[in-house]
Amino acid sequence: MRPTEQLKAEHEGVKLMLKVLGKVCVKPEEINQEHFAKILEFLKVFVDKCHHGKEEDLLLPAMIEAGVPKEKGAIKLTLLEHVEGRGYVKGMSEAFDKLKNGDRQASTKIVENGKKYIELLIKHIDKENTILFPLANKVLSQAKQAELEEEFEKLEVERIGVGKHEEFHGLLHQLEEIYLG
Ligand SMILES: [Fe+2]
Ligand SMILES: [Fe+2]
Repeated sequence: MRPTEQLKAEHEGVKLMLKVLGKVCVKPEEINQEHFAKILEFLKVFVDKCHHGKEEDLLLPAMIEAGVPKEKGAIKLTLLEHVEGRGYVKGMSEAFDKLKNGDRQASTKIVENGKKYIELLIKHIDKENTILFPLANKVLSQAKQAELEEEFEKLEVERIGVGKHEEFHGLLHQLEEIYLG
């Protein structure tokens, strides 16, 4: 699969998890801590470490090398939005720690950050699918794309470990059945 197709496929997984998160945010007083811990792990590891890692450390540098400016436009925006998203995940994570320690009010913070994260990521994914990726496909040679494909695989093994990607998909479908079924 060409690199941008792989990232697009991952976006579908991310969007599914955003739907699950959306459901959690509707009834924060009933938050299932075991599920929420897994949702956070998915957002931190699958979305940020793995997916954003492929974009930030491999795809974008290749695009910059191919002449796309890095200080403005699609690349700059992508990076800024990743930073913004990390802030919301951190917000949810800190609030969740408080909740686990018995602070019931903390669920409000989870919802606040959760809603902002969902709103940001939906737009972010849409922009990547429609602007960033077509641009990447245009400027990157077939050889470079083949190289990226291999590097994506390596990054996945190095950062999240063998089999973890499949494990996350299993989690995703488990939560999908519970929250969206
Ligand atoms: Fe991204
Ligand atoms: Fe993405």
